[in-house]
Amino acid sequence: MSFVVTDNCILCKYTDCVEVCPVDCFHEGPNFLVIDPEECIDCTLCEPECPAKAIFSEDDLPQEQQHFVQLNADLAQQWPVITERKEPLLNAEQWDGKLDKLKHLER
Ligand code: SF4
Ligand code: F3S
Repeated sequence: MSFVVTDNCILCKYTDCVEVCPVDCFHEGPNFLVIDPEECIDCTLCEPECPAKAIFSEDDLPQEQQHFVQLNADLAQQWPVITERKEPLLNAEQWDGKLDKLKHLER
């Protein structure tokens, strides 16, 4: 079991989540973050930190977000670790809450 970053992080990338992770398991792409399921210890700390409510426990993952489990695992292998908070993406507020942003994911 692991925590999973889902659709609403895309194009927002607030990065508040990375500051609280005790095992540095967030990985950063151009407009999305993922959690490495091999490293996550299910501490729950990141979930309430995300302003976009994009982080879920795998147990609580909505049906329509299930594909993000594999996506987090795959991209965590490709993207570098991020441990420090940075500025959100430029139009984060406008994108926050928009649906089906996966088509905008940059790899
Ligand atoms: Fe890191 Fe804990 Fe969030 Fe897992 S649940 S990604 S260990 S902060
Ligand atoms: Fe993304 Fe939320 Fe972290 S928007 S970068 S999961 S704080």
